[in-house]
Amino acid sequence: MTAPFDAIDVIRAKRDGVVLSAEQIRWVIGAYTGGQVPDEQMSALLMAVFFRGMTPEELAVWTQAMIDSGVRKDLSGLGRPTADKHSTGGVGDKVTLPLAPLVAACGVAVPQLSGRGLGHTGGTLDKLEAVPGWRAALSDEEYVSQLRDVGAVICAAGNDLAPADKVLYALRDVTGTVESIPLIASSIMSKKIAEGADALVLDVKTGSGAFMRDPDDARTLARTMVGLGEAAGVRTVALVTAMDRPLGRAAGNAVEVAESVEVLAGGGPADVVELTLALAREMLAGVGRDDVDPADALADGRAMDVWRRMIAAQGGDPDAALPQPAERHVVTAPATGTLTRLDAYALGVAAWRLGAGRARKEDPVSAAAGVVWTAGVGEQVTAGQPLLELQTDDAARIPRALEALEGAIGVDTADEPLPLVLDRITA
Ligand code: URA
Repeated sequence: MTAPFDAIDVIRAKRDGVVLSAEQIRWVIGAYTGGQVPDEQMSALLMAVFFRGMTPEELAVWTQAMIDSGVRKDLSGLGRPTADKHSTGGVGDKVTLPLAPLVAACGVAVPQLSGRGLGHTGGTLDKLEAVPGWRAALSDEEYVSQLRDVGAVICAAGNDLAPADKVLYALRDVTGTVESIPLIASSIMSKKIAEGADALVLDVKTGSGAFMRDPDDARTLARTMVGLGEAAGVRTVALVTAMDRPLGRAAGNAVEVAESVEVLAGGGPADVVELTLALAREMLAGVGRDDVDPADALADGRAMDVWRRMIAAQGGDPDAALPQPAERHVVTAPATGTLTRLDAYALGVAAWRLGAGRARKEDPVSAAAGVVWTAGVGEQVTAGQPLLELQTDDAARIPRALEALEGAIGVDTADEPLPLVLDRITA
């Protein structure tokens, strides 16, 4: 059968700034995913989009075509509202772990299909795999029955969730076309809309450890994604939040699970608790449950109960000891005064080099590797006090992690930390 369009015409049109028709967009996404348009032509089109951008109408059709490459899940049979959260990724960002059981404890189901980490930001599934026995892969039946029985699921996305994104993301990764707001927005939102939740809260990070270092770019990405969510009938709100320093006191895998359990037990670092509650309130409000205060479910142990059931339902032992590192290396505070800089990107790279993250998709990660710190930005430190502890299975990794940390710590410098929540973006 002859194709209704020629890929070269579509590439030329975008290259020259012509608005693509809905038919052209639907055809090219479908034909690339189906293998009829080759990588070299899709690469050229992605680069044209990178430079020319997309109109809101083009982007809505592009995103819908990505959703239509797979299935949009229908969770209406659950009999209770559903809400989800997506973070654009940051260092020490373990918020999904306490947030999903917390929101479920408030009566709203949380269907969280997550990914693995790549580069300096960690992946939720990698973190949870530090829990002995826990498995990320669930069948559709297991997924729905866990949502019904426990109310929260964090698991790996199946192959039917926006398959166009899998092939497009892999191509963007090797063609210098990842850092494009329409391509990022459609990639994230196609997966999130296909997940089938009624409401969605986006945590768009900004600062050195984030995809969008510049707050204005983060706001633009947030606005673009909120527009796509609302156009697809999903109530969507975004918080733009700080990632100039890492979140909490730990970055890695087992160390982030441990910190999440502290939060669920009613303790934990103040910034993690504040952000978890802020996102929980948005998720509840998104489904009309702003009468419920999630702080109560943290304080009275209901969120912890859901966490334990959620972990156990996926084969994990919530009481098992977490993996411990073979090697520890302490970095001390360089001066006495206020800690004004703890650079998120540098800490993320250090944790990654210690073995917590992967450089290629197929690399394994170490559950025990990571970095923990004893003081956060804005706190007093004394010269010589232990400030960071580098943890790894392999002592040979420590020197390169230390290299990453050069210049990352500052006492009484002129740095001005971002507020934890910079902005709230609605439709
Ligand atoms: N995360 C995604 O899922 N897609 C992108 O393009 C960037 C971040």
